[in-house]
Amino acid sequence: MAKQEDQFKKVLSHAKEYGYVFQSSEIYDGLSAVYDYAQNGVELKKNIREYWWKAMVQMHENIVGIDAAILMHPTTWKASGHVDAFNDPLIDNKDSKKRYRADVLIEEYCAKIEGKINKEVAKAAKRFGEAFNKDEFLATNNRVLGYQEKINTILARMGKSLENEDLADIKTLIEELEIADPLTGSKNWTEVKQFNLMFGTQIGASAENSTQVYLRPETAQGIFVNFLNVQKTGRMKIPFGIAQTGKAFRNEIVARQFIFRMREFEQMEMQFFVKPGTQKEWYEKWKQTRLKWHLSLGMGKENYRFHDHDKLAHYADAAADIEFNFPFGFKELEGIHSRTDFDLKAHEEYSGKKLQYFDHEENKSYVPYVVETSIGLDRMFLAVFSNSLQEEILDNGTTRTVLKLPAVLAPYKVAVLPLVKKDGLPEVARKIVDDLKWDFNVFYDEKDAVGKRYRRQDAAGTPFCITVDHDSLEDNSITIRHRDTMEQKRVKISELKEIIKAEVDVKTWLQKM
Ligand code: GAP
Repeated sequence: MAKQEDQFKKVLSHAKEYGYVFQSSEIYDGLSAVYDYAQNGVELKKNIREYWWKAMVQMHENIVGIDAAILMHPTTWKASGHVDAFNDPLIDNKDSKKRYRADVLIEEYCAKIEGKINKEVAKAAKRFGEAFNKDEFLATNNRVLGYQEKINTILARMGKSLENEDLADIKTLIEELEIADPLTGSKNWTEVKQFNLMFGTQIGASAENSTQVYLRPETAQGIFVNFLNVQKTGRMKIPFGIAQTGKAFRNEIVARQFIFRMREFEQMEMQFFVKPGTQKEWYEKWKQTRLKWHLSLGMGKENYRFHDHDKLAHYADAAADIEFNFPFGFKELEGIHSRTDFDLKAHEEYSGKKLQYFDHEENKSYVPYVVETSIGLDRMFLAVFSNSLQEEILDNGTTRTVLKLPAVLAPYKVAVLPLVKKDGLPEVARKIVDDLKWDFNVFYDEKDAVGKRYRRQDAAGTPFCITVDHDSLEDNSITIRHRDTMEQKRVKISELKEIIKAEVDVKTWLQKM
């Protein structure tokens, strides 16, 4: 645990030191759970967005993109259920005056029991050595079965009480489990209350004439309300998808863990419209396709897992998260939801307009079913950034900090470094920059010794460094150094573009899917 916390602290300070993420309005002591992307961060974020867009929109003939407005007609949020049901159950501790999500307190309690299961597994694995069969142990060990049974009972009761809006039982559960304030240990709790997560604002000049609107809490509804416009103008045939990336806003109460849970964040969502009855098949397909997209980035298969939901949202008939192994453990990175025809039907009902598709093969109209893939861009950023930050002990005993970003996502693909600031080397280096910058984002650096410059680029995540030396003036060659292996090679300047392209091109990476 201490090691994890340590790693997370390093991620936070590295993100600031190397110009990736700053706290919003830092000179005023910041605004909680709101962050700014800095000069390198904005490039990494853009590259992740483009990697997603390429895979989800441009590689599919039957998926198109839109960019809907953040402000939408307020009835949208009535229809979607967000006005009535987009709530978190909150509880206050009377002694510490701290506010918590009641369901998170209970889930954290269950996570502790899960920790005990993991300890039993580790102990048994040590005892039985190679003969250890984890699945069999989990299915037969009495102590483990007891722990698992306890978790299941607690979560089932919580799920039922939340569904029935029985907030009094949630409080009783917290008391029965003797859950204490994590900060102070106090068990002096208030009642549980529902708290709506949407940010409201007004349109209009005066209080009497203004209309209450909301900052969208998800981008998906911008897609649903445009479903028929896109289908008709794009002459789309089912199955087809509509994708978009953009800001979403939630007044999160448990707003911590850096850019993992923010109040203003960005989503990358795709709604896939299918024939009713085929949603299960498409749901399974999108689960696998999205996992493959993640794996194409080479961040380790062991760092991903599916979490199938037992408790489903009111609109879903199946749902799963792709969880990633963040520095604070496995947590949701992306959601894949089979949303049935709930949203389109609700918008039909509230708007009085038909949102149906005429299926020529079936010769009938119907409201399509929807399978959604929804990933937080900021969460993806954190997954990539935290996974890439590594410390290596080199042969000479020194430590190298290196940000091993997947090259396709790195903010700068190459840094061009003249060995010295004289003898015509900067001029050759500048010429290389001018040539390469048409194809790649290129960094130029002539300050400090070249070894120091290499280390700076390693820590900033640049996959290649190119050094121009005195021989370059004669042989039109340079030294190219690879960030991850530190291997150096002498190559012709004329070959550079192809060498770099082979490693940073979106095609190279997406073809691994
Ligand atoms: N349209 C479905 C939807 O919004 P969600 O599970 O609430 O589903 C989808 O959100 C994804 O958006 C999550 O998997 C997560 O990556 C991201 N996300 C949600 N809330 C977030 C927050 N407060 N800060 C950062 N990312 C968030």
